[in-house]
Amino acid sequence: DSGAFTYDPGFTSTASCESKITYIDGDQGILLHRGYPIDQLAEQSSFMEVAYLLLNGELPSQSELDKFVTTITRHTMVHEQLSTFFRGFRRDAHPMAILCGVVGALSAFYHDSTDIEDPQQRVIASYRLIAKMPTIAAMAYKYSLGQPFVYPKNDLSYTANFLRMTFSVPAEEYEPDPVIVDAMDKIFILHADHEQNASTSTVRLAGSSGANPFACIAAGIACLWGPAHGGANEAALNMLREIGTPDRIPEYIARAKNKDDPFRLMGFGHRVYKNFDPRAKVLSKAATDVLDKLGIDDPVLNTARELEQVALNDPYFIEKKLYPNVDFYSGVILSAIGFPTTMFTVLFALARTVGWVAQWNEMISDPAQKIGRPRQLYSGATQRDYVSVDKR
Ligand code: SDX
Repeated sequence: DSGAFTYDPGFTSTASCESKITYIDGDQGILLHRGYPIDQLAEQSSFMEVAYLLLNGELPSQSELDKFVTTITRHTMVHEQLSTFFRGFRRDAHPMAILCGVVGALSAFYHDSTDIEDPQQRVIASYRLIAKMPTIAAMAYKYSLGQPFVYPKNDLSYTANFLRMTFSVPAEEYEPDPVIVDAMDKIFILHADHEQNASTSTVRLAGSSGANPFACIAAGIACLWGPAHGGANEAALNMLREIGTPDRIPEYIARAKNKDDPFRLMGFGHRVYKNFDPRAKVLSKAATDVLDKLGIDDPVLNTARELEQVALNDPYFIEKKLYPNVDFYSGVILSAIGFPTTMFTVLFALARTVGWVAQWNEMISDPAQKIGRPRQLYSGATQRDYVSVDKR
């Protein structure tokens, strides 16, 4: 019982862990980071400030924030040999495949921050992961285009630095549009952490064995890639583009309701939310704001709005309590910023690295922490004696 709310005893008995970082009430559509509502953080905070909050538990003073941002900024470069490692991939590799590989290899480049028994090394590894993820994500994008890697520029904010590494080319400087920087930063905030989702649980389980943090985050990236999880933002925009015009919505709604059809409405439904995902509410409004400010008229947004209304008024979706989730509108904004759909889950991983690192630190610093060992319900054969092949 933490005063503000008490755990449902039934729920506690099935909880995989206890955490102080993020609270979700799926029935009410509530999402709090260290007690602060996600819509307030998205509208009033910054991704670096939310990162500090998730890691440390309290909002920083200005000097604490400045010190944190300076430390992160000074870790944004990657080992020069990493660019050689990058060049081993095919140019047409999916950026998430590259991200999985490169982040998993970081422990081969940063041996001095892999000892999880050393608190100092845990801090250095945490900062390195948060600081270098934008650089690696931008490198994955540049590599897929056949363009040269762009080094970080330390006089830019975390998010502006990422956008410049992604979109600038030697032939012409890229001045990040403040509208785009703000939209990107808001998207990062909305994807930063989300309690014990599949990828965060993967990071915790990997970390419980004592694996180094780079390997644990790589495991989280691999899990996030699935279309049922972080891969849904790429799948949702592809679906909206495939639907094309609102007159084709009924066909897709019918498919989504057909038990014999594996098709699911991407960006809809959630393991926990049985009400609106509060992040989807913020993104729905941001989609209109950003496209208006950028002067972009994307018919996909109209299709998304129409699809949302049809689904929300459909008895099947009402009965199953299916609402738009964080992935339903994010792709419309990311596309307006200039990203291809193949980069959408990379951006999700970039932002979620902050949550994964915060959750990993909470797990690894718990003295009572033991190795994770989920049990099973065995439904296989009872014990029987071996039969030689000539008697089978
Ligand atoms: C994320 O866990 C997290 O916190 C994840 C995340 C995070 O920030 O980390 O929030 C990010 O992963 C969001 C979810 C992104 N995925 C998608 O948008 C993919 C489409 N959604 C579905 O695949 C589905 O909704 C899941 C995977 C998200 C949840 O699936 P569940 O656990 O089966 O959902 P449920 O138990 O609420 O389903 C109830 C019923 C089921 O049918 P019945 O078994 O009762 O017959 O609704 C059906 C489901 O089959 N259903 C859908 C549906 N989602 C659920 N039917 C059609 N379209 C859908 N999108």
